[in-house]
Amino acid sequence: MRINKYIASCGVASRRKAEELILNKKVKVNGKVVEELSLQIDENKDMVEVNGVKISQDEKSVYILLNKPEGYITTVKDQFNRLSVVDLLSKVEERVFPVGRLDYETSGLLLLTNDGDLTYKLTHPKHEIEKTYIAKVRGKLTEREIKDFRSGLHIEDYTTAPAKLKILDYDNEKKISTLEIKIHEGKNRQVRKMCKAINHPVMRLKREALGELTLKDCKIGEYRHLTEKELNYLKNI
Ligand code: URA
Repeated sequence: MRINKYIASCGVASRRKAEELILNKKVKVNGKVVEELSLQIDENKDMVEVNGVKISQDEKSVYILLNKPEGYITTVKDQFNRLSVVDLLSKVEERVFPVGRLDYETSGLLLLTNDGDLTYKLTHPKHEIEKTYIAKVRGKLTEREIKDFRSGLHIEDYTTAPAKLKILDYDNEKKISTLEIKIHEGKNRQVRKMCKAINHPVMRLKREALGELTLKDCKIGEYRHLTEKELNYLKNI
C-alpha cells in the first residue's frame, strides 16, 4: 500500500496531509526517514512511525459533528495560543482532525474524524460536498451583484464555480442583508472573498449544513457523534 494511504487508514492524517508529513521528514518506516512520496509498504510487516510514534490501523473510527463557536481555530494550536476546536472535544479520546476548515471567526458545522479515507473523499475537488452558509453582510445587493455572485466571480487567481444565493432578509435600519449561500468549493476564506468581491463584506458567517448534515441536536460549542444514517450518507456520496 502507498505510504500516504496507509497513514490515512490509521487515522493520523488525510492523504494530502500525510504527504506533507513525509515532505517534512516526520515519517519513518522501519526506523528510516521516508524520502519518497510514492513508497509502498507492507502493512502487515513494516513498522511506520509518525512524529516518533508508532501508528497502526487498529484505532476505532470516530465521526464527530461540532457546532463551532466563533473565536476558535480549526488547527490544533497556533503561535498566538488561541483556543482550538480540540479544546471543545475533551471527552474524545481518539485523535481526530477536521474535514476542511472553518475560519477563526466563522461558527457552525464542523466535521471531525480520524477516518482519513473519508476526509480525503469529502475534500477531493471531484466530489466536494455542498456547504450551506448563512452570511450577514453589509448593505443591500443589487440584481446585478446577485447575478454575478450566482454565475461566478473572479477572486485573486481563480474564478468561482456557480453558487446558489438566496436573500433571506434585509434590515433597513442596520443596513445588513442576511444571505443563504451554497457552494461546493472550499478555498481559503472563499465566502468572505466572494462577498467582498461584490462589495458587501461579511460581518458574521455560520456554516449551517454540509450536504444533508445539519446542526440538528447540537447547540453552539457542543458536539455529537454522527448517526448511522448520516455516516452511511457520507460514505455513499
Ligand atoms: N468561507 C469562508 O470565508 N470562511 C469559512 O470559514 C468557510 C467558508
